[in-house]
Amino acid sequence: MRFSTPSLVGLYGLLSASAFTLVRGESSTTFMNVREDMVKDYKNEDIIPTVKYFTESSFHYHYDGRFADNILPDNEITPHLSALIQTYLTTMDSIGAETWIMHGSLLSWWWNQKLFPWDNDLDMQISEPTIRFLAEYYNMTEHHFDIPGTKDGRNYLLEINPYYVVRSTEDSLNVIDARWIDMSSGLFIDITAVRKDDDKRAKGDKGALMCKDRHHYEENQIFPLRQSYFEDVPVKVPYAYTELLVEEYGSRSLSNKRFQGHKFNEETKIWERAQRNAKRFLRRGWRANDLPTRSAGSEPYIRMDAA
Ligand SMILES: *[C@@H]1O[C@H](CO)[C@@H](O)[C@H](O)[C@H]1NC(C)=O
Repeated sequence: MRFSTPSLVGLYGLLSASAFTLVRGESSTTFMNVREDMVKDYKNEDIIPTVKYFTESSFHYHYDGRFADNILPDNEITPHLSALIQTYLTTMDSIGAETWIMHGSLLSWWWNQKLFPWDNDLDMQISEPTIRFLAEYYNMTEHHFDIPGTKDGRNYLLEINPYYVVRSTEDSLNVIDARWIDMSSGLFIDITAVRKDDDKRAKGDKGALMCKDRHHYEENQIFPLRQSYFEDVPVKVPYAYTELLVEEYGSRSLSNKRFQGHKFNEETKIWERAQRNAKRFLRRGWRANDLPTRSAGSEPYIRMDAA
């Protein structure tokens, strides 16, 4: 990535945050450490793990079995996912960790800046400096949020895969670098780190990026990130989002108004059930004052009884 090019370092939220800290004279060893890491080339851990770090539940691959025994009732999935992404984005923003949407979540953002009503997972990406930062300072931190419509709010866990240091795509058991997990339901966001593609760079492709899940990008497809909204909270989206979506899903994904038994209503910008029984999309009326808020006086804390 561009960390070795001083003129472009501003692209990285973390880096500019550390520069800011420096100028203001506020001491934050956290950011300074990250800043030093940033300009180095990351060493690859050569040994390919034989174990998978993250496990999914036996009842459904989008749930973490440590926190649930069952899938949620159909009408609770979207509200839980919505709170999941809102709390994740809020938290990453407040700790200065750069993240952006990709894959299916980017596609649903493209249509109406909302989740698809049939979604049951979410995909976010982070840069390599960010995964290092999160691994070092925020692994196994629990974050409590007040969630409108719930009595006690919910706890969310940020968990970093220790095999994130293995950069090779041969580590096919550990393509997910981190997860943001709703401890009330077991639903989670898959977070993947976007890394320099050393092989391609050695062959002259100077902007080559990759993820362990074998997705490949060019720096100028992702950066500079654009600012938008998703589920009513600020989000960053990759620069060349249309190109990325067409590459991944084909151009019909951007014109086809019928998907998964739903029909896109141009007027309301809502995916409606093509059949009767429109219950599921009608629940989607989040208002701005319905957003989760970090509970007052509740700092994230490290789980000691970890997994
Ligand atoms: C995060 O914490 C868990 C639980 O202690 C541990 O298994 C895992 O290796 C840690 N991840 C990193 C990146 O250190």
